Amino acid sequence: MTNFSTKVVETDLLICGGGMAACGAAVEASHWAKDRGIKITLVDKAAMDRSGAVAMGLSAINLYLDHNGGSNTLRDYVDYVRNDLMGITREDLVANIARHVDGTVHMFEKWGLPIWKDDQGRYVHEGRWQVMISGESYKVIVAEAAKKALAETGGEYIERVFITHPLVEGDRCVGAIGFSVRENTVYIFKAKATLVAMGGAVHVFRPRSTGEGLGRSWYPPFNSAGSAFFTIHAGAEMTCQEVRFVPVRFKDAYGPVGAWFLLFKSIATNALGEDYMKTNDAELDKWGPYGRAKPTPANLRNWLMMLDIMKGKGPIQMRTEDAIRRISEQSPDPKSAARKLKELESEAWEDFLDMTIAQALLWASTNVEPEKKPSEIMACEPYFIGSHSGASGAWVSGAEDLQTATTKSEYCWGYTNMTTVPGLFAAGDASGASSHKFSSGSFTEGRIAGKSAIAFILEEGGKAKQVSDARAAELTSEILKPLATFSEHAGMTTDPDINPKYVRPKQFMQRLQKVMDEYAGGVSCQLATSAKQLEQGLTLLSLLREDSKNLAAADLNELMRCWENVHRLHQAEAHVRSVLHREETRWPGYYLRSDKPTLDQANWLAFCNCQYDQAKNEWKMIKRPVKYITDGNGG
Ligand code: FAD
Ligand code: ADX
Repeated sequence: MTNFSTKVVETDLLICGGGMAACGAAVEASHWAKDRGIKITLVDKAAMDRSGAVAMGLSAINLYLDHNGGSNTLRDYVDYVRNDLMGITREDLVANIARHVDGTVHMFEKWGLPIWKDDQGRYVHEGRWQVMISGESYKVIVAEAAKKALAETGGEYIERVFITHPLVEGDRCVGAIGFSVRENTVYIFKAKATLVAMGGAVHVFRPRSTGEGLGRSWYPPFNSAGSAFFTIHAGAEMTCQEVRFVPVRFKDAYGPVGAWFLLFKSIATNALGEDYMKTNDAELDKWGPYGRAKPTPANLRNWLMMLDIMKGKGPIQMRTEDAIRRISEQSPDPKSAARKLKELESEAWEDFLDMTIAQALLWASTNVEPEKKPSEIMACEPYFIGSHSGASGAWVSGAEDLQTATTKSEYCWGYTNMTTVPGLFAAGDASGASSHKFSSGSFTEGRIAGKSAIAFILEEGGKAKQVSDARAAELTSEILKPLATFSEHAGMTTDPDINPKYVRPKQFMQRLQKVMDEYAGGVSCQLATSAKQLEQGLTLLSLLREDSKNLAAADLNELMRCWENVHRLHQAEAHVRSVLHREETRWPGYYLRSDKPTLDQANWLAFCNCQYDQAKNEWKMIKRPVKYITDGNGG
């Protein structure tokens, strides 16, 4: 395209993304860059104040160890995460984040985040690892700290620039390329180290939402597999691409359930008023040592609920009215019980107004008063979010001091949080096998990766090769091609959506979602799939990949949509290949391999990794051992 200009940004550390992990990286890296002449550049596709999963705010900090005040230990936490992920976890990564996370939470409080306190001035815990916040402005507060840190060290942040591809020279990542979503400018970022923190992915699977609610999902629509594509395309080894996350949420508006289950100690019941966690309890014995773990792993909680739905015992209701009544009845007299009831009622609304405003709107518009009647809950469509109770992401090096004699050779190959591609780091949703980081842990992992990237720049930065002009030019024309395709062919038909020469991004996304839903175990199949279904899915995805060359964009916004969908396609392919490779069912409630419906501890207590060679368009599947830094029995 002739009316596009190119802007070259030379920097030392490039941070891709502006969410929790990216902000953590900016704060920490700025500290270590100070007085060393190191420049940091952060690039976000949106505006940092309200970008990513924390855009609307959150109602809790889901990872806080409470080392000092409470009786929790680091080992307790590692045991919890390992069990929740049915044994598949990199304990070294989990422990590294958890040992530093409390300091992060204290920083948030210092910056102005209101954390709930009890009469004694202690944080109010939602559950064992979670603390309650008034978090409507959580992201604004964190972004402000990141911007300030960057400004103090001569760094910069660039908003509304969409990163499309990594730049790789030889075996090393040397930056990224992307374009502005507001003006006709292509950005080439040349960097000595690149840190990927562009979140996870939504809308790879068809959402439950349709018609007037189409597109509504639990996970934010802005995170569209940018991290996965970037690391896959750079040739990094990926891990746990099969470990999708399927949260249970309040139906249709996707309001989270944590405050109800943990803070209000609510139960959910089936249409007969039975607590499916009790009536289906015997099922837990089928799932190895994890079935009897406390708390029950998230996927098994889903599974016990789904069993009732499949038996015709749905809908499932969160018993908000019972929970509120039970707590208020504990008050010593009727007057304080009435006061408590009002307090609980406002906490119930605040939980959603802080984090998922649409749920409060749905309650209001459907006359739900949570203290009077229950609300339906449901398992969502699958998402890719390595920072929550899923695990997908890049395979990264662990901290050296946390390795044992048996883990070191497998899990530690260099700078902490560096992927298998030199100079390419990952954190938050972008790094895999280290679940349950949440907002505080993602910020903490960003800090760890940011510090490590600065060490890399100081020691290895001089060896970075120059980005080749030819490659940059080639990628520029590839990135802008959808605009040319549209302008060249749109006139062929009267309806711009119907055209033999191109596919528009929304159509492409809907085809992707249909394939994933029907062949890879989406909601229309009760999350079940099989080898034959997956193989057919792969065939259809390969046809979609051919058609990606004919994506067309009418404007810059659609150009972004085109590339979001190319990113999603790679996430989808990594997922399907990994579900196919792991010949067992380990996470029922996330997905069921109906041809391999049981746990196979002997063969599959292992990581399923993969690597893509884009020059050859070939995927390699890699099985890696699971090795714990504890004895794996809580000891
Ligand atoms: P994000 O914070 O999502 O940041 C991703 C960033 O990448 C964004 O800035 C985005 O704009 C940018 N980006 C994406 N693609 C591109 C691209 N191509 N180019 C440039 N930039 C790009 N955690 C808690 O602790 N407590 C809670 O109560 C809680 N509730 C949650 C509720 C919801 C609805 C959701 C979705 C998550 C919740 N979490 C909660 C989890 C928490 O939000 C995440 O763990 C955390 O935000 C992950 O951090 P991240 O940096 O990896 O991703
Ligand atoms: S949120 O990120 O969207 O807020 P969610 O509401 O599911 O997630 O969970 C918040 C926290 O509560 C997470 O740490 C999650 O693991 C935990 N949690 C949710 N439900 C339960 C449950 N029934 N038992 C134990 N932990 C739970």
